[in-house]
Amino acid sequence: MNSFLSLLLFSSLFILTLSHNNGVARTPPMGWNSWNQFACNIDQDLLTDTIDQIVSSGLADAGYKFVNIDDCWSYKNGRDNKTNELIPDPVRFSRGIHSLSKYAHSKGVKLGIYGDVGFTTCAGYPGTLDHFQTDADTFARWEIDYLKLDFCDIPKKVQDEPWIYFGYMSEALNKTGRPIVFSICAWQPKEMYKWARKIGNSWRTTDDINVSWQSVLSIIDQNRELYPYAEPGSWNDPDMLEVGVVRDGRSLSQNQARTHFSLWTLLSAPLLLGNDLRKIRDPDQKWVFDILTNRDAIAVNQDPNGAQGRSLYQNIQGKIDRDGNCESKNCTRTEVWGRPLTRPTKQSYAAILFNRAGPNVDDEKFTQEKITIRWSSLGMPSDAKVRVKDIWSNKDLGVYQGSFTSEPVEKHNVVYIRLEQQ
Ligand code: GLA
Repeated sequence: MNSFLSLLLFSSLFILTLSHNNGVARTPPMGWNSWNQFACNIDQDLLTDTIDQIVSSGLADAGYKFVNIDDCWSYKNGRDNKTNELIPDPVRFSRGIHSLSKYAHSKGVKLGIYGDVGFTTCAGYPGTLDHFQTDADTFARWEIDYLKLDFCDIPKKVQDEPWIYFGYMSEALNKTGRPIVFSICAWQPKEMYKWARKIGNSWRTTDDINVSWQSVLSIIDQNRELYPYAEPGSWNDPDMLEVGVVRDGRSLSQNQARTHFSLWTLLSAPLLLGNDLRKIRDPDQKWVFDILTNRDAIAVNQDPNGAQGRSLYQNIQGKIDRDGNCESKNCTRTEVWGRPLTRPTKQSYAAILFNRAGPNVDDEKFTQEKITIRWSSLGMPSDAKVRVKDIWSNKDLGVYQGSFTSEPVEKHNVVYIRLEQQ
């Protein structure tokens, strides 16, 4: 065999082994995860209640099908002496994890779990290093549908070549024969999207989100250039949602939460709710429910073309410092984002007109802004006629030629539109 042929054979074998060709997550996964609201304060009652609520509230019908347990579910002091398997916490998960997945499946939803590629998880529970197949087999036996694998407490070899170790888990999951969404949570290695997309169904692109506007903005900025890496089956993961999350007395305002959700849907992000679903039907949570179940916003996220939204242009006027504060008398800071869609027609698009303003919404140097999008920025002819539908007000705004200018957009808010070229 000549050297070219052997190289070809070697590289195709390599690709075959690494590709996470599991057929799942053809659109971004949607569900709930315990971490953002509850951290380690989890048990089987919370999970059972959440399964009940995600179904009875209508969230599952809106698309949220995964109920994912994050860190702190296992017995902290070690594995089973004989089998080396992970053990569910005997007090907090006394009925085991399999009983939860059976319950979830009986209700028509799915169960996800959490592990770590290193010695221990980020909260210090047993990690999966050197136990990849054992853990994959355990998860498959428990009929788990989604695995988030974290990146804490790793030896140098994993730090240096993380793709090898995440690749082991990818292969181990494939070997079980059970379709399991594989969510890579390696937030740290540079340019992880270049290898993670061959191994996992999603990969965290950034450090942990927290309940703050600054965190949401920083993640948006770090995902600005990552659109080439998303496609059906593999997604950039800008981390889970903070819509309706209240932690240490902090929460996003309604405008900020709407902006956060709008951008996440446009960016083809996995939509993993972080809020307490036991409260989702309280009257003061109606706005949260309405944001999370907006049909058009979800339809953008779930469009089969899997195209991740791009930043089309930014309008910055005045002198703005690194933290986003205005250093001149007045400032403007707006952004326009967009993406193609295949529904309802092949000539459909979505766009976000975002009044980013300054970090502090009370800063009077920034004001409401009318924002314009030109159809040519989305690749349509500059004189195209386009029907515009407002996603948040659910109103048909009519047909516009060449461009569309919004009514004044409040600070930290968006106008989110669906477009159909006529
Ligand atoms: C890391 C992850 C978080 C969460 C915690 C759990 O920080 O990025 O999403 O899973 O670990 O300890």
